[in-house]
Amino acid sequence: MVSLLLSPGLPRRILPFAVFLTAFTVVMTILFLSFDLKAPKHRELFNFTRDLDFSSVGQDNPQFIAYVRAVHLQSPPNSVRVVEKFNINHQTLLVASILNNKVNGTFVEAGAYGHGKLSNTEWLESALGWHGLLIQADPWDFITLRRQKRSRASSVHACLSPTAYPKEITFRQISASDGGDDGLSNFTRVKCFPLYSLLLAAKMTEVDYLSLDADGAEVEVLKTLPLEHVDINIISVEKKVNKSDLMNFMTVHHYELIYELSDVYIFKMNRQELLSSPRASV
Ligand SMILES: *[C@@H]1O[C@H](CO)[C@@H](O)[C@H](O)[C@H]1NC(C)=O
Ligand SMILES: *[C@@H]1O[C@H](CO)[C@@H](O)[C@H](O)[C@H]1NC(C)=O
Ligand SMILES: *[C@@H]1O[C@H](CO)[C@@H](O)[C@H](O)[C@H]1NC(C)=O
Ligand SMILES: *[C@@H]1O[C@H](CO)[C@@H](O)[C@H](O)[C@H]1NC(C)=O
Repeated sequence: MVSLLLSPGLPRRILPFAVFLTAFTVVMTILFLSFDLKAPKHRELFNFTRDLDFSSVGQDNPQFIAYVRAVHLQSPPNSVRVVEKFNINHQTLLVASILNNKVNGTFVEAGAYGHGKLSNTEWLESALGWHGLLIQADPWDFITLRRQKRSRASSVHACLSPTAYPKEITFRQISASDGGDDGLSNFTRVKCFPLYSLLLAAKMTEVDYLSLDADGAEVEVLKTLPLEHVDINIISVEKKVNKSDLMNFMTVHHYELIYELSDVYIFKMNRQELLSSPRASV
């Protein structure tokens, strides 16, 4: 711009254009910067506004289940898993002890290896011969999950739908190091499946232990489960939820809160209560 103005013999007619261009650039820069500053304040992981809902597809629709099984469910890796060191935490030990160290049990873990965490089911698999299903929505965390070579666990890169229908959402990735506020987050589209659809696809409607981390949507996810068609004994729920909502739901469905740890609630199905009062009402 400066060189333009200084050029000798430049027709004076160009001057208004130069002034306009400068003003335009300044205004656009200000607009751009102010948008940019506002953007990181949105901390939600999911932008439900622009979601796609496939509300005509029932969560037990056989074609849909076949599609999930064929396209999204990944079989356990063939390579042999080398266990150097068992990753085990208090929560895993509690679950095993509640079940008297049951062998060959079944697990479903949603949010496995999320944001730098370990898995709550790895030890059950390695030491007690359990098998199951691992669910992870974050693309990087899913790569971490696959690298574990869990030889008795299928896996699926998806989020759990907060409704009884499949969805597609925009997912904001959070790296383990950043607090999510640097404005550098990556956004990806991720498919969300109802938990029941995933259980049907993995042929696992009898589950000894469900470890549930759904980034705050845990109660909504649980509400989508047709509990008369699945048998889940122990359920652990991350403390990201409204406790009274969770307790109401679990109590109505005959689950008892048996442990409350610093970051998780552990529930067990009360089978006696279940026998004496059938779930017909629910
Ligand atoms: C979510 O989508 C809406 C509608 O398209 C958009 O206006 C909003 O800025 C989005 N929010 C985030 C956090 O991306
Ligand atoms: C557990 O499974 C293994 C093989 O997968 C089998 O040999 C063993 O008998 C099973 N144990 C029980 C208690 O079912
Ligand atoms: C975003 O993606 C790039 C590579 O595409 C990666 O290097 C970076 O770590 C990612 N950022 C986050 C916050 O995940
Ligand atoms: C939890 O939800 C109930 C209603 O379902 C509401 O009254 C209560 O204020 C909520 N608690 C918190 C901490 O948000």
